[in-house]
Amino acid sequence: MMGETGYAQKLADVGPVPQTNEKMVKVTGSRWDNGLAKTPPMGWNSWNHFGCDINEDIIKQTADAMVESGMKDAGYEYVVIDDCWMDDHRDSNGRLTNDPDRFPSGMKAVADYVHSKGLKFGIYTSEGTETCQDLPASLDHEKVDAQSFAEWGVDYVKVDNCHNQGRPLEERYTAMHNALKAVDRPIVFSICEWGVKNPWEWAGKLGNLWRTTGDIRDSWQSMTRILDQQVGLYKYAGPGGWNDPDMLEVGNGGMTNTEYRAHFSLWCILDAPLMAGNDLRHMSPETVDILTNKEVLEVNQDPAGIQGHKVSDAGDQEVWAKKMSDGSVAVVLFNRGDDYAFMTTNAKAVGLPDASSYKIRNLWKHQDSSSEDLIRSYVPSHGVAMFRVWPS
Ligand code: GLA
Repeated sequence: MMGETGYAQKLADVGPVPQTNEKMVKVTGSRWDNGLAKTPPMGWNSWNHFGCDINEDIIKQTADAMVESGMKDAGYEYVVIDDCWMDDHRDSNGRLTNDPDRFPSGMKAVADYVHSKGLKFGIYTSEGTETCQDLPASLDHEKVDAQSFAEWGVDYVKVDNCHNQGRPLEERYTAMHNALKAVDRPIVFSICEWGVKNPWEWAGKLGNLWRTTGDIRDSWQSMTRILDQQVGLYKYAGPGGWNDPDMLEVGNGGMTNTEYRAHFSLWCILDAPLMAGNDLRHMSPETVDILTNKEVLEVNQDPAGIQGHKVSDAGDQEVWAKKMSDGSVAVVLFNRGDDYAFMTTNAKAVGLPDASSYKIRNLWKHQDSSSEDLIRSYVPSHGVAMFRVWPS
């Protein structure tokens, strides 16, 4: 387990950041080590595609599809039910309970099914009197709700910020942190306060991931706006605690496959939690291809957990880089322009040490090449080229 000292050491190991136009920031606070999310959590969440239109059959079929599509083999493991699983009132014991129409078998039965597939189960609540869909939530009920979650077999809980009564953020999320700590079950704690009070500065001592922005939408504008809000945050992430730029929209239909490849590559280099947000039961081969690209996923799941950052920005052409634990560097060349571009960076700019040559792996074309210095590619409009580069 990485204590505070290990984390500080890891940050020191990152070394100087070349040519970055990011604001340099200082890491503050300690980190909660519950032994979980040592790499960014991977899974699926119902919200982006289904909203409230969920039921236990959809969740079970999604677990089946996660296995059958190869997503489980690629590393996805959490099946998370977002808002609208609960009944509109607590039961006679004051406990949150399942919506009887959507989840007639109860949440434990759904959790058991998900576990029977070798997957993990997640659920949603809010640190408010109600969820964002005005259903009962956990403010001042943290203990009993955490106990229910543990009894049902919950492995992951996303905790939203609606109906918070204006009460201080840290106080509310600390109450849930204490309640989760007190139950006899390891539960990933996903803090969803939408980036309103710089959660990267305090949420790491309470939870395993924290949303950095408002909600993503399935559009190029939304995806790129959220990307821009990640600049400067890389120093706060590390094993056990991650910046969360919100869930994936890959496969939902509002962007082209080129744009989805960019969205996925950027979320991977950002060490973002990878929660697929599409209908896993009906995926095109291209969607499966994007979500299960193992070479790109390796970048996201690197054990050192050094989040990538923006190295340069020439208007519409951006270079993002991430140090990998084996001494290689992952590079995304991102073209936001309306026209294709020939993009170039070099070894020094992305933080590689001097070497006589470099081995370059194209992570989308799955091809090797070598170079004395330059990393370059044709990049389509709204697309990326993604590489991993080793000094040789
Ligand atoms: C908020 C969250 C979303 C989703 C909805 C559910 O908007 O940010 O991710 O959980 O609530 O109502």
